[in-house]
Amino acid sequence: MPGAGSRGPGVDGRLRLARLALVLSVWVSAWAPGSSAPSSSLSPAAFPASAGSAQPPPADRCPAACECSEAARTVKCVNRDLQEVPADLPPYVRNLFLTGNQMTVLPAGAFARQPPLADLAALNLSGNHLEEVSAGAFEHLPGLRQLDLSHNPLSRLSPFAFSDSNASIPAPSPLAELILNHVLPPEEQRDNGTFEGMVAFESMVAAALRSGFALQGLQRLELASNHFLYLPRDFLAQLPGLRHLDLRNNSLVSLNYVSFRNLTQLQSLHLEDNALKVLHNSTLAEWQGLAQVRVFLDNNPWVCDCYMADMVAWLKETEVVPDKARLTCAFPEKMRKRALLNLNISDLNCDPILPPSLQTSYVFLGIVLALIGAIFLLVLYLNRKGIKKWMHNIRDACRDHMEGYHYRYEINADPRLTNLSSNSDV
Ligand SMILES: *[C@@H]1O[C@H](CO)[C@@H](O)[C@H](O)[C@H]1NC(C)=O
Ligand SMILES: *[C@@H]1O[C@H](CO)[C@@H](O)[C@H](O)[C@H]1NC(C)=O
Ligand SMILES: *[C@@H]1O[C@H](CO)[C@@H](O)[C@H](O)[C@H]1NC(C)=O
Ligand SMILES: *[C@@H]1O[C@H](CO)[C@@H](O)[C@H](O)[C@H]1NC(C)=O
Ligand SMILES: *[C@@H]1O[C@H](CO)[C@@H](O)[C@H](O)[C@H]1NC(C)=O
Ligand SMILES: *[C@@H]1O[C@H](CO)[C@@H](O)[C@H](O)[C@H]1NC(C)=O
Ligand SMILES: *[C@@H]1O[C@H](CO)[C@@H](O)[C@H](O)[C@H]1NC(C)=O
Repeated sequence: MPGAGSRGPGVDGRLRLARLALVLSVWVSAWAPGSSAPSSSLSPAAFPASAGSAQPPPADRCPAACECSEAARTVKCVNRDLQEVPADLPPYVRNLFLTGNQMTVLPAGAFARQPPLADLAALNLSGNHLEEVSAGAFEHLPGLRQLDLSHNPLSRLSPFAFSDSNASIPAPSPLAELILNHVLPPEEQRDNGTFEGMVAFESMVAAALRSGFALQGLQRLELASNHFLYLPRDFLAQLPGLRHLDLRNNSLVSLNYVSFRNLTQLQSLHLEDNALKVLHNSTLAEWQGLAQVRVFLDNNPWVCDCYMADMVAWLKETEVVPDKARLTCAFPEKMRKRALLNLNISDLNCDPILPPSLQTSYVFLGIVLALIGAIFLLVLYLNRKGIKKWMHNIRDACRDHMEGYHYRYEINADPRLTNLSSNSDV
């Protein structure tokens, strides 16, 4: 490790190039603190080759597994099998990449440092095999605006993960963007056979998003590819600042229980690649009431029966759904692939719908039953003589038997005879 805190592409040992780079890096770092570094400065070219820099101040330290660029205010510790957050992160860090490591647990105060990492604005923890994020894991990061936790199997996300661990009324979080794409744990940990087990993941994420209004400044929330079956009722209630909500590639069947009314800032809502069948009036009216919203609904299995009439009428009028021309019916069979926009209300009826496989199997069952019935009748017909004889026998047997009963009944029914018989018994 050559005394320099920064690593990057070498300078081939050429003195002139090194001197040029040094001058450049000094110029850039003199210029950078006042300005906000644009993300384009993350390109390798922006890493200063400070081969010749003299005694770096202690603030310039760089953890062993990382690449640091003070000029770009960026630290990258990528694909290094790190099991915990490095302790000696440089205080200037604004963009921190800790992706592709092995940190299964993120404990409380994982980024709390003395002095605090006050400038850390973008933290990327994508692809780390993170299973547990504890309460207060992001405490003492007053400037954190963007957090990416995607591609981690989050089975234990604390309800206080994004707020202070032990404040009863948590301080507002500085987060503006929270990216939680594909954070579902493996199937065997989710489905324990009960409905509670199936939706436990949704409930856990919803609890962390509520966190006592801590995330009221959140503007972008991405929750794509999480196999969400439904949205808990108050899931969005405490995110009033939301502008972009991405729920692509989940398994949402209905939006009946979730309300969008309070999301007055909402600009984009992505619901592509879900399992939506129809949208009801209340949802449509809520979207229509939001000033700027655009809703994306492509690739859902719309069911074009009578319940679809309101939605079709609304789609024909609305500006809210930019991809509305691409929406097509998936059921019933005779409507498959027809564009929703081209449907007439008279096309939408609620005949009992059976899938074709079931229809043919019912026809088959009917034929088999009719055949069995015909054989039964034939057998009866062929045996008609025997049956007649048998019926006669039974009738005779019954008659004998019944006559006996009849006789005894008459005796019992006649009070005189009854008295007689009982007296005679004595
Ligand atoms: C975080 O890192 C992953 C992996 O490199 C990348 O795909 C993703 O775009 C990054 N997230 C953000 C918000 O830049
Ligand atoms: C949480 O409580 C612990 C011990 O009670 C305390 O040391 C810590 O500073 C508290 N954290 C916050 C954010 O209040
Ligand atoms: C299934 O998981 C849910 C939520 O985690 C839990 O409440 C329930 O008790 C579990 N049921 C069984 C049978 O383990
Ligand atoms: C959709 O989500 C599933 C997991 O729920 C994931 O395996 C798949 O790769 C995702 N597809 C896309 C196109 O992102
Ligand atoms: C909308 O916000 C109001 C006031 O902030 C609150 O009382 C109400 O419960 C919210 N409604 C929903 C559906 O979240
Ligand atoms: C839905 O709204 C439309 C127009 O506002 C109305 O004509 C229709 O009756 C409503 N449908 C239901 C089921 O309430
Ligand atoms: C819808 O109805 C109109 C008028 O009744 C008719 O001209 C049109 O062909 C119909 N469209 C479809 C797709 O059936």
